[in-house]
Amino acid sequence: MDTTQRVLVTGATGNVGPHAVAQLLRAGVQTRALLLADDPNAGRLPKGAAVHHGSLAEPDSLDACLEGTDAVFLMWPFFTLDVTTVPAVLDKLREHNCRVVFVSSIGVHIGLEPVDNNCHAYLEQQIEKAGLEWTFLQTTGFACNARISWAAQLKAGDVVRSPYGKAVRSPVHEADVAAMAVRALTEDGHTGKRYVTTGPEALTQIEQLRIIGDVTGRHLRWEDVPAHAAKAAMVEAGWPQPYAAGALDYFETLVDKPETITHHIAGVLGRPPRTFREWAEEHADDFR
Ligand SMILES: NC(=O)c1ccc[n+]([C@@H]2O[C@H](COP(=O)([O-])OP(=O)(O)OC[C@H]3O[C@@H](n4cnc5c(N)ncnc54)[C@H](OP(=O)(O)O)[C@@H]3O)[C@@H](O)[C@H]2O)c1
Repeated sequence: MDTTQRVLVTGATGNVGPHAVAQLLRAGVQTRALLLADDPNAGRLPKGAAVHHGSLAEPDSLDACLEGTDAVFLMWPFFTLDVTTVPAVLDKLREHNCRVVFVSSIGVHIGLEPVDNNCHAYLEQQIEKAGLEWTFLQTTGFACNARISWAAQLKAGDVVRSPYGKAVRSPVHEADVAAMAVRALTEDGHTGKRYVTTGPEALTQIEQLRIIGDVTGRHLRWEDVPAHAAKAAMVEAGWPQPYAAGALDYFETLVDKPETITHHIAGVLGRPPRTFREWAEEHADDFR
């Protein structure tokens, strides 16, 4: 790993970003973290990164942190940002001659219009058009979606009420997404690659819940609810309406056609991806 490189991590207080920062620091890479000025989650940032305040919504605020940066780990907080700021942000990356590793989504393969309900496809198009050196991590759902979607229900009782319990996914551990990014940010040979970044196993949502039950010693149950009710709740929680609809349509297809599983993580990292059970064991306290 080239320890003279300087890498900027966006989304550094999200689910993937803190893993990426910690792994880069452990590897001795000079690591910068982009944080909103009044970031309420600043405590999630591992110690040792150089903190730069700025916002992807204000491209001019990025100049200081991009000065001297070689590579950027880009995560686009799509619920909070208008994609129309994308070209201006990418201009900044080009001006500062930065390579980019972007956390995209398996959703780019499901044939939706590349804007509202498929912002990752839009972002991939724009990054390619901007003439940057890029690597895309087209990830399946993060394992932590189980916590985001179910932990509150499981604090209140033993039942998860959600649609498409039989949808078969291949959840990927956030630390593995970060590990893929760290390789692509710091090694040669990853430019122009689209890594379909998946977990190692096909699991229905009901099976994921069962695993959480196993590791917490709880008897947990799944109750399917209609998609329209779930969509209303997602929109209420801030999902753009077309994106919520697109996600639910995708889940419906996964009942009959399991999500893709690839060997891209093993190919790049030289080891298999972490399992959902490993993730659940690490996070069992979130479900107690
Ligand atoms: N979850 C999935 O299953 C999934 C699947 C495929 C792809 N992805 C992609 O993965 C990426 C990373 O997800 P994640 O769960 O780690 O992140 P996340 O939890 O969605 O957090 C987003 C991060 O961006 C920061 N942020 C918010 N507004 C910002 C702004 N204006 N400028 C700069 N930073 C801002 C947030 O800061 P605060 O902490 O202050 O809010 C946070 O650190 C996402 O961009 C998503 O598109 C996710």
